[in-house]
Order: sequence, then C-alpha cells, then structure tokens
Amino acid sequence: MRTLSLFLLSLLLLLLFSPSTVHSWKKDEFRNCNQTPFCKRARGRKPGSCSLVATDVSVSDGDLVAKLVPKEPDPDHDDQEPVKPLALTLSVYGDGIMRLKIDEDQSLESPKRRFQVPDVIVDGFESKKLWLQRLSTEKVGSDEHFSSIVYLSDDYEGVVRHDPFEVYVRERLSGDRVLSMNSHGLLDFEQLRTKKEGDEWEERFKSHTDSRPYGPQSISFDVSFYGADFVYGIPEHATSLALKPTRGPGIDHSEPYRLFNLDVFEYIPESPFGIYGSIPFMISHGKARGTSGFFWLNAAEMQIDVLGEGWDADSGILLPSSQKRVDTFWMSEAGIVDAFFFIGPGPKDVVKQYISVTGPPAMPQLFATAYHQCRWNYRDEEDVENVDSKFDEHDIPYDVLWLDIEHTDGKRYFTWDRVLFPHPEEMQRKLAAKGRHMVTIVDPHIKRDESYHIHKEASMKGYYVKDASGNDYDGWCWPGSSSYTDMLNPEIRSWWGDKFSFENYVGSTPSLYIWNDMNEPSVFNGPELTMPRDALHYGGVEHRELHNAYGYYFHMATSDGLIKRGNGNDRPFVLSRALFAGSQRYGAVWTGDNSADWDHLRVSVPMVLTLGLTGISFSGADVGGFFGNPEPELLVRWYQIGAYYPFFRGHAHHDTKRREPWLFGERNTELMRDAIRTRYMLLPLFYTLFREANVTGVPVVRPLWMEFPFDEATFDKDEAFMVGNSLLVQGIFTERAKHVSVYLPGKESWYDLRTGTAYLGGKTHKLDAPEDHVPAFQRAGTILPRRDRIRRSTTQMVNDPYTLVIALNSSQAAEGELYIDDGKSFEFKHGAYIHRRFVFKEGKLTSLNMAAATSGNLPFKSECIIERIILLGHAGGPKNALIEPGNLKAQIEFGPLLLQGRRSSGVLTIRKPGIRIADDWTIKVL
Ligand code: NOJ
Repeated sequence: MRTLSLFLLSLLLLLLFSPSTVHSWKKDEFRNCNQTPFCKRARGRKPGSCSLVATDVSVSDGDLVAKLVPKEPDPDHDDQEPVKPLALTLSVYGDGIMRLKIDEDQSLESPKRRFQVPDVIVDGFESKKLWLQRLSTEKVGSDEHFSSIVYLSDDYEGVVRHDPFEVYVRERLSGDRVLSMNSHGLLDFEQLRTKKEGDEWEERFKSHTDSRPYGPQSISFDVSFYGADFVYGIPEHATSLALKPTRGPGIDHSEPYRLFNLDVFEYIPESPFGIYGSIPFMISHGKARGTSGFFWLNAAEMQIDVLGEGWDADSGILLPSSQKRVDTFWMSEAGIVDAFFFIGPGPKDVVKQYISVTGPPAMPQLFATAYHQCRWNYRDEEDVENVDSKFDEHDIPYDVLWLDIEHTDGKRYFTWDRVLFPHPEEMQRKLAAKGRHMVTIVDPHIKRDESYHIHKEASMKGYYVKDASGNDYDGWCWPGSSSYTDMLNPEIRSWWGDKFSFENYVGSTPSLYIWNDMNEPSVFNGPELTMPRDALHYGGVEHRELHNAYGYYFHMATSDGLIKRGNGNDRPFVLSRALFAGSQRYGAVWTGDNSADWDHLRVSVPMVLTLGLTGISFSGADVGGFFGNPEPELLVRWYQIGAYYPFFRGHAHHDTKRREPWLFGERNTELMRDAIRTRYMLLPLFYTLFREANVTGVPVVRPLWMEFPFDEATFDKDEAFMVGNSLLVQGIFTERAKHVSVYLPGKESWYDLRTGTAYLGGKTHKLDAPEDHVPAFQRAGTILPRRDRIRRSTTQMVNDPYTLVIALNSSQAAEGELYIDDGKSFEFKHGAYIHRRFVFKEGKLTSLNMAAATSGNLPFKSECIIERIILLGHAGGPKNALIEPGNLKAQIEFGPLLLQGRRSSGVLTIRKPGIRIADDWTIKVL
C-alpha cells in the first residue's frame, strides 16, 4: 500500500514538474532582466558612470599590470564600504590575441577568491604568449591623460587609456580602432563582501530563495566593434544569425540576449531568451573593417545587449572614431573579467584565433557524420530490430540507432530494463554486424536509491554537489529524487569516466556510444528548472559562478571516459544538450526540444550556423521537430535541410506518432530516402570538412559571408548557407512553396547540384521550388568528392570508389580536397591518413599530396579508386583523357549525363580512369 501511494505521489510530482507534459513555453517559469537584480541594476546605469582610472601601470612577468581605482565615489554604490582597487593584467598572444583580466586584488583581504573557469583554455595557449618588454606611453589624440601602448602584431597594438579608463585595439598605421571596452564608461565591478548585521542580500524568485552569502558580485561593461555592420555569435538562442539590437531608439521592452543554460521546453523560435547552452563569444563583421571578435571566459549567468544606433545620443559621449560601429553591453552575475580580443581581420582568422584559446573541434568517427535514427523511445529489442530491418527493406541508409531514457531500469543510467532489453549485447552485435552503431542516453541526475550502485558510491565518496547548507543537493528529475555529481572536481570526472568501461557498464559493447541530456542541469523543481545558484561545488565554488559550464564538465567527463574505454584509440562520440565555450573538444551538440513547425525548421539554420561560428561545428536540430506531429511535407523538407546539418538525426517526443521515413506513403518515403542518400553521397565532402574544422576551427557549415566577406548582400542572410567553400544550400521554409529565391554570391557561376545547370553569381534567382530537394549549388572553381554507391551504412562504403565533380570557373580552373583515414581511431594524429589536393588548370587535373611529411608516421592505406570525373562548364569538346604516369587513355564523354537520376547537358565525363585515390597522378583532357 505504502509503495503504491509513494508511486502515485512520484507520478503526480513527475506530471507536475516534467517539462515534457507541458505544451507551450512557460514564460513565467523563467526570470526576465527586470526580475534579475544584477541585470536590472546594470541596465539602469548611465554611460559615463564608471570613474575608474588606471594607476601604477607597469610591466611584470611579460604582462602589462595596473590598478584600477575609482576617481570619485560611484553614485550607484554610495551604500558601500570603501572600494578596494582592482587588479588589471593585460597579456598579448601570437596570432592577434589580446587578453584582459580584471579581478579583485589578491593581496587584499576578501571573503573568498572569485571563480576563474579552469579547463577551458587549451594547454598550448600559454606558450603563445608574447612577453612584453616595455610599454610606450603617449597622449592619444586630444586625450588629457596618458595611455600605455603595447605591441600586438606588426599591424595592431593594444591601448590602455589611464583616465578615464578604457582598453582598445587599434590599427598601428591608421590609428583606426578595431575593438574597445569601457568606451562608454559602463564598467562596474561589484566586489565580494562579508555579511554584516542588516545586510539584506537574499533574492527570491517564485518559491525559491537564493541566500547570496557574498552579496552582489556582478560585473558589467560595454564593448564596441568598429567598422562593423553586424554582430553574430553568443549562442544559444533561437534567433537570427545577425543579432538584432535589444536596446536603443525604437526598440521597446526587448530582453537582452541571455546566456544561462536552461531546459526551456517548447522554446519559441524567435527570442533572445537563454536556452541550453552558452558561449560568450561575439563576432563582428562589416564591409569597412572586416571581422573581429570578443570572448569573455565567464561561466556565470550573462546578459548581453546589442545597442541600436543612437542608443547613446543623450550620453554626451563621442567616440574618437567616425567609423560605423556596433556597441554592446555585457553583464554577468559573478566571476572575473577574463576577456579576449581577436583582431581578425577575416572571418576565418577570428574563428582560428578563438580556437587557439578554446581548442579545435574533435574529429568524429565517420559513422557519426552519417544519419542517426532516434525517438523517445524505441520500446524494446523487437522494436529496434524492426526499425533496423525496415531501413534495409526501404533501401534507406542509416548508421546509428538511439535509445532514450526508457531503456534503463527506472532511469538508473548504465542499467537496462531487463524486461524490454534482456539481451543488450546481442542487440548491439546484430546492429554492428551490419556496420551500425547504437547510442544510449546517460543523464547527470542520479537516482537517490540505496540499491543503485552509482548513487551508493557517489554518496559514500561525497561526490555530489552540495546545497547551501552543505548536504547533498537533492532535486527532482526523471527518476524522481536525484543528486548530481560534481564534475568540476577532476577526481569525480575520472571516477565517472571509469563507469563507461565494458566491465562497469554491463551490457555495453564497443559499438555503443553516448548521449548526455538534461545537463544544464535540468532540475524540475529547482529555480527556473535548474540548480539553485547557492549550491556548492568543489573548492567552495558557488553554482552561480559555474552554472553555464556544468554541462560542459559532464560532457568532458563522459567523452574522456569513452576514450579510456577504448584504450585511447577509439574516437568518442558523445552528444550533449548543454554546452559552453570549448564543448567542441568533446563531441556534438543539438539544439534541444524544438517543435514540428515551419518556424522551428527555419530557425534551425541560424542556430546551427551560430554554433559553428563559435567553435561548435558538429551540431544539428532534431529532424522533424521534437514536439508535435509534422505534416509529411514539413518532415520531408526537414530531411532535405537536415541532410546538410553537420549532425543529422531524426528524433521525436514520446507523445508523437511514429514517423520513421517509410510511414507516409511511397512518394514521401522516396523523398526522404533521396535526402538521406544525398548525405551519404556527400560524406567524403563532409568528412573532409570535419577534418578542416579539426585543424583550423573553420566550421563545416558556414554563413555565406564567411566565404564572401566583401559581399554586403550576404551579411544578414541566414536562410541559405555554405557547406565548406563549395556548396550553397538554400532552405525552403514554407508550406506548398511554389518558388524560391536564391541569392548566389560572387562573380563566378554556380552549378545546380542535381542537373549541372549553370547560374550566374552576384544575382538573386527566382526558381521553381522543387518538391524533391532543396536547391543546392556547387560553386565554380571547386572540386567536390562524392561516393555514389548506395549502401546500408558507412562501414559498407569503405572500399567504394569516388567520383570527383569539377565545377570550372571562368578561367577553366578549379580546386578541391579529399581527406580519408580509418574513420575510427586516433592514428590520424600520427599521420595515418590520406589528404589529397586536386587542381584543375590548363586542361589538366593533378592530384597532390597534402599530408604532412610521413617519416616515422603510421601509414594509412587505401586501394580506393576514382570511378568517374565529371567536369561542369567545360568550354571545348575534348576527345581524350590521358593519364600519367602510364600514358593511359580513359574514356571520355561529352553531353547528357545522369546526375542523381536526372538528365543534364553540357557535361564532360571521364569514365573509369582507374586511378587510385592514394597516388600522385595527372589527367590531361585533350
Ligand atoms: C529531453 C531531450 O531534449 C529530448 O531529446 C529527450 O528525448 C528527452 N529529454 C527524454 O530523454
């Protein structure tokens, strides 16, 4: 009886708190800026309120150091004890990076150290430091007081103006500014305090109280981007790529962009509200100057205003620059100022600069770059077997089958529901026999159940996050009463990682990989559905200081665990919902619980592009939309766009109808099959781009302006995007669309991916909206590698031949690349890969080796050949193709050709040249 009533109570609580039972965005669950005291205070400040000046400026340990002291009492802080000086450190790194730290002075008494986020900056970064030897000091322009100038690069320098305090980067020759901080005098730094009688610092939201033991501790400041037309970045928000102003003339009641990792169920498709992830990195781009970036390494709640032109009209502040500018205002609840200024000047430079701080994206296994099939839930082993065999029956390739929370024994992760999944190993082996993989979910909430080994160990070892009074924090999530391991602690991360070994994770096999969900963390009965800000982590860190990085640490611990499981030679695959700066090093992310409607399909593109700009190349949205039932047309369109997301997975909520691709009639099956096959055909291109991202940070899918930085028409476009530098994909986001307008940038032509038809660049084309695909065009001047044979999964494509599609530009030239490795191990890091560069010019195609010198490196061998070379836009009518070495002739054809099942004209094809991908060769077209 008691068990029954407990069960009913649990059910009731679950129904009450579970986000998934609610069917619209519950705005009232979440705080807006006005209900967030630090945000309200900061937004209320007037330009020029900061009276800090830099004193004692000198060089120490290769850095510029200074003290910041107030010149006069701050009118907003007249209740305070005397303000202590702040410590400033400015450092310069190679590749055009300047770092500014402002913290409380450690030599002075303070209730505790403020939190500086560890484990985000990559190890090698410090070695790039340029040791400052001396400062030059001058009065800049009409300034009354001195500035200290530091060398940044041959073209740029950093300036610290002493009074009023300001920091900026400028071009050395022209003196033009690039980026600046505190130019509007909005810097405010609330110092930690020891509570005295009468101090009322508690904050309440709904039924929750935040004890705030150290008083207000927020930081805010303004940042200006010069020569900028737009700013981008700071995910994660469901909004446009170019960020809209949130304050200024004509903008009423807009919220700032919020960075606070939250489980926002049914998020709305146009909003600055914070969702699952936070990356405090903003990029500006403009015709006048190019690109620059600003990254604030801080894991506390952040709010960022993009200030509309004229916002400062009444401030009396005139910046000494006539350049077009975008001003922004950054506010954070806690932490320190640890800010990085990136000078660009091109979009790819800024991304590379950011990546040199936070690390490049991990190289995924090949299977992970293919199609994934998920749903909450595949019920049991029979269901899994059925779904798997239906893919084969319908000739649709797929690589991964996913199991959501219901596969576990009562939401105890690392266990199986032994009734539904009695033979997990056999189930995985059956999939593996077809070259397929499985992913299971492992969430961070641990069921507080004494018979659950993970809980028993974690509680015994003291591994849980503590509440404000020092007890294990107890919150409500899927399993009911739960606690959360404290992943900030490296020892706990290592313990967690060990849970993924095959001995510990009973029922797991080498073809099983992991999905981390709910790691914001989501707490159904917590304030704003997350952990209280005064909960305590390792080293006395308050949750408020760390919140946005909690999921990052969880993702890291899981990913490291899989590496350990594979003895360091199996690339992990871990999908995470929460994210932070640096998450790219640990795996893929997805955009969470979207809905099956056209607006969510539309917003998925800027969301994925923004993540890519801020380092996270491997991302995607739930294809089909998580909540609700998509009409077949929407589902088909989603597959057509989703086939170009870097992470391509169909997923659905458990209340939705089944929607596997064969359930909507023959025609729709055909359309979805076609979309998925397009992805498989383009996998050599995607994999090559994943490698490019892994080396340079330049994302797999890119905004048009990243490839066409001088074409203003592209700056605010986000309905189309580039896959690498060669493909432009245009989404179709409306029902029964008859036409679609496509802007094709640049001066060169573009070739329809399916028909080979050429379109002029620099123009908007109004085209018929095809039912069977979304428009995609290959840019003239590029060479694209494909694999055209249809297989069940990537594993079966390993020995398949390649096709090269050469799209010639107006000089009858083109270039492209192909990267291959074993798709699985880390041996590529020791040279075990093939990287070719193909160059077509003066009638000759050459394959060049791009791999780094191989002495002592591991070899990677491939017998794969090229079965076909297609030349688009060839001017003449050549008859022969001559292959060297060997002086061999290959068949050549000019004229109609079947491209993806469609007949096209004006295409030259070299058939069966019989050359190996691994070799050096040339083909002359005569
Ligand atoms: C929330 C996730 O966003 C969703 O993808 C998942 O299906 C459910 N949690 C259940 O695990």
